[in-house]
Amino acid sequence: MILGIESSCDDSSLALMKTESLELVFYQKISQEKEHAKYGGVVPELAARLHTTALVEILKNIKPRLKEIKAIAVTNEPGLSVSLISGVTMAKSLSVALNLPLIAINHLIGHIYSLFLDKELVLPLGVLLVSGGHTMVLDIDDSGLVKLIAKSTDDSFGESFDKVAKMLSYGYPGGPIIEKLAKSGDSKRFDFTVPLKGSNRLEYSFSGLKNQVRIAIEKLDKDDYQSKLDIAASFQKTACNHIVDRLKKIFEIKQFKNFSIVGGASANLYLREEIEKLCHHNRTSLLLAPLEFCSDNAAMIARAGVDGYKKGRFISFEELQLHPTSDLNHFEI
Ligand code: KG4
Ligand code: ZN
Repeated sequence: MILGIESSCDDSSLALMKTESLELVFYQKISQEKEHAKYGGVVPELAARLHTTALVEILKNIKPRLKEIKAIAVTNEPGLSVSLISGVTMAKSLSVALNLPLIAINHLIGHIYSLFLDKELVLPLGVLLVSGGHTMVLDIDDSGLVKLIAKSTDDSFGESFDKVAKMLSYGYPGGPIIEKLAKSGDSKRFDFTVPLKGSNRLEYSFSGLKNQVRIAIEKLDKDDYQSKLDIAASFQKTACNHIVDRLKKIFEIKQFKNFSIVGGASANLYLREEIEKLCHHNRTSLLLAPLEFCSDNAAMIARAGVDGYKKGRFISFEELQLHPTSDLNHFEI
């Protein structure tokens, strides 16, 4: 079995996966969302402190199975360095104590593996990655070589949901909150402009939209609940339109056989529906992860670790370092 360790942001998680059957033998995640909610976003110092206890709590639950582990896969990039350090230190300590090899996993590549938890990787593959820290479109060829096609030049898609929820005086994470509010709102009420509309630039930008929403909120009466619902619905529609509008341009120059949406914000059902329509129109098959495994989790890290193990991609104790940022262009999956 491969042990997967994830601590890149505000979720502490461990998983055990069998290398041959891909059976997820153990999976647990302790989320810190409630603790960060009162601050309207992740507080790094608090995240770091909570990881140190949560990871050890979960480790206790797999103690009887430690002898069955063949290798340890750990997220070492990208993420908050004060959070990554907890998982990486646990991985190194276990590797020394149990004499086990280490496998470094890029968190974003981990999200791609959430599509293949119980199956073999499908290539070639187009990927829309929408998380709290990243918004990007990737093209992965038959050999697993990753090419970056587009990314956000400012806020990420998920981050813009977090910021809008905060401006509306709701908690964190904002994505699920806005999606829920939007269900009872009128998406036509506020006519927000879709970013980069009419431009040929293959990139994303959410900060202008966030400012449009801020100006609309400033004009609202604080007790006007219906207007908050309408803002949520209008914002969600415009943010998703921006994603799809740029994807249409990308689909014009690249015919994807398989396309996918991964990352925490890929749980958004409105976004899923809009991209389903686009893929259907282009005769592209769409791959989606189970909703439970869209957000950060160690199951996807263990699954990526299984492939790393089979390819013999081990890293020495000294070489295993953490990196707050990462460049996926030219990465080999
Ligand atoms: O991948 P993830 O769990 O953590 C990072 O690696 O960043 O993504 C978290 C992000 C947060 O910004 C959260 O608000 C967003 O994903 N998110 C959503 C939804 N669920 C989570 N955004 C929009 N709609 C959702 N349903
Ligand atoms: Zn993530």
